Parts: sequence; structure tokens; C-alpha cells
Amino acid sequence: MPAFTFPKDFLWGAATAAHQVEGNNINSESWVLEHLPETIYAEPSGDACDHYHRYPSDLALLAELGFNAYRFSIEWARIEPEEGEFSYAELEHYRRMLAACHEHGIKPVVTFHHFTTPRWLMRAGGWMDEKTPERFARYCERATKHLGDLISVACTVNEPNLAMLLSKLLPFNLQEGPFWNAAAQAFGVTPDRLGLFQFVTQPQLRDVIFEAHRRAFDVLHSGPGNFPVGLTLALVDIQATEGGEHKAQVLRRQLADDYLDLLHGDDFVGVQTYARMLIGPDGVVPPGQDVERNQMGEEYYPEALAGTIRYAAAATGIPVIVTENGFSHTGDALRLQYFQAALRCVADSLESGIDVRSYFAWSAFDNFEWNSGYRPKFGIIAVDRATQQRTPKPSACTVLLLL
Ligand code: BGC
Repeated sequence: MPAFTFPKDFLWGAATAAHQVEGNNINSESWVLEHLPETIYAEPSGDACDHYHRYPSDLALLAELGFNAYRFSIEWARIEPEEGEFSYAELEHYRRMLAACHEHGIKPVVTFHHFTTPRWLMRAGGWMDEKTPERFARYCERATKHLGDLISVACTVNEPNLAMLLSKLLPFNLQEGPFWNAAAQAFGVTPDRLGLFQFVTQPQLRDVIFEAHRRAFDVLHSGPGNFPVGLTLALVDIQATEGGEHKAQVLRRQLADDYLDLLHGDDFVGVQTYARMLIGPDGVVPPGQDVERNQMGEEYYPEALAGTIRYAAAATGIPVIVTENGFSHTGDALRLQYFQAALRCVADSLESGIDVRSYFAWSAFDNFEWNSGYRPKFGIIAVDRATQQRTPKPSACTVLLLL
């Protein structure tokens, strides 16, 4: 195999999100949803990986494994526990975490919103409320004033197109089940005002999120520090099988173009890819019986990343950061193979002239996979949840093998 040639300043990292690893994120809407009797969550997040307390040794481990970057999110529900009430202690916590990254030679890539939302905001209509962009910008302003000088790259929001993608994949409409009504009741809103970032597909939600992104973009550029700002998108490689071309085109518009079109002027686009989606004349074609799958039921197809990088770069004309890419599996052999093939896609993209600036494996740790709970194993580092002991898997060394 020809040698990989990555630029010297290329960022190599692994990624996490606060709610999935920190533990006890009790002021967030997800904590409430996890504990509803009608919950769709397999189990509550609990202590998660206790990364909130264990970040010093976790960062040391990531540095030891050879990474020069780490993508993580700061938690709005901790930083602004009630509307307009900011916690200096929590901001200091994240400042210590950022400083620790730099001490280990790790560039911090900070996401300001990774799905979770403070409870108080849900009571006001969450991501359906027209005042939310202003609220989000105020939180970003406060956070960046405190942290900006230590940030290397910022992502405003994570995957504003996820709800749309899920609506095409799930065999039922979540907004029609008992969970939805119970959740609305828990936040004291009517079901049509339940502005859950991950699950709402009404066009209003996209407008609110993009307005929030634009305002945050300006705020982050005017605070201390000088770092690139963008957002991340869930991008599947949509491929047409015979007769499925028109349907594939429509899906590309709904799941990707409608969002990519709004990114002109951003500093980068964050590409997050796990699989491909095959489209036939009748719509989505499920993977065949004989193919390898991940624990989410998706086909093993690491080459999807080549397609999504190319697509995002061509649609936006801005640099690409692969902010998430990975494979959930109980064993590690397929994951290792997956990363090697995916990194080959990144190398090929670079060789074909696409401006790809970094690659983040999802995920640094086996963590809380939202409504699927702890069953899916995405981590390159295993976590024993009874003892919180960390054990790197062979795939954690993928990066070293390629340097
Ligand atoms: C999300 C992560 C999630 C991962 C794997 C992405 O959609 O950003 O939070 O764990 O996919 O499902």
C-alpha cells in the first residue's frame, strides 16, 4: 500500500460530547427524558465515564496514544443553569480542561452545543422558540469571553440535520407516541412546542438553529482568541441503485443540500459520517443479510467518508474537518479495519486537492449512545463502568500506525 502523506499541521483526534461522557448532567433536558416512565432511552446516563472528574488522566492517555487534538463539548446546562444565571465555577472547570489539553500538546476543538439543552430553555419552547438564537448567542458570548483564548477550533452546533435524517430511517413517527406527550408535559409545553434539537423536523427548527449558528459565529469571532468557527453535519453517503436516481437526488437535497447551502462564509464544514444509504425506486434499500453491520444496524462501509468529504467540499467550497467517523462493534478488529480504510479515503481526498484539515475518530471512549444507552461500543478506549477503568483497544493505535 502506498504511504499516506498527511500535512504536518493536520489535526488527529478523537471526539466526545459532554452528556455522553461527563456524567450526572442533571440540569439538561436529556436527563429528564431518560427518567420519564414513557422514556425511549434504554437506560439513564448516570455517571457516564465520569469524564467531568477524570479529564486530567483521560487527556494524558489521549496524548500518550499520539493524538494532537481532542474534540469535546462544553455543557450549556452547566454553564447557564437558569436563564441569565452563569456559573463562574463551571466556566473555570472548562478553562482548566482547555489548559490541560494545551499542557499535553492537544489542540482543543470545542463544540458549544452537542444535542443537550438546559431544562429552562425547554420550558420556553427549546429550539422552536424565536428567542433561542439570542439566548444561544448570549451563552456563547459569555463562554468565549472566559475560554476563547484557549480554543483552537469551535463548532457552534452539532448536526442540525440529524432529526431529518432520523425521520427517514426510523420506521415510526416519534412525535406521535406516548414519549412525546410525556416529554411535553414534563417541560410544561404543548406537544407542538416541544423543541427537542435531536428529534424535531418542522422547518421552523432549522430556521431557529441556523439563526443561532449565524449569531454565534459573529460572537465567537469577536471574543478573545482567533480560531476557525463552523458547524457539523450528519452526512451519509447517498448512493442510487438502478431506478433510484430521482429519489436519491430528493434525499440529498433534504438531508444535505438544504443545510450545506447555508454554510457559505463559514470557516469550515464539519463532516460526520458513519455509513452509506442505498436508494432504490422504492426508497431506502436496507443492507443485505450477508453484509457486516455495526451495532446500529448500518452496513460496514468505510468508503462512505470519501463520498461525503467530496460532496461537502464541492457544495460549500470551504475547508473540511472530519469531526466524527467511526464504527460501533463489540470486537475491535473490524473497527481497526474501518479506521484504516476511512483514513485511506482522507488521504485520497487530500491527494485529489480537497482541503481536509483534520480527522476525529468517534469516539474516544465507549460512552452513552443516547437512546441506545451503553450497549453500542464506539470507543477506541474501553471503559469499565463499575470501576471507571480505561483500557485502550488496538484501534486506539490506528493513528500511530499511519504517522
Ligand atoms: C452524534 C454522536 C453519536 C454518534 C454515533 C453522531 O450523530 O454526534 O453524539 O454518538 O453520531 O451515533
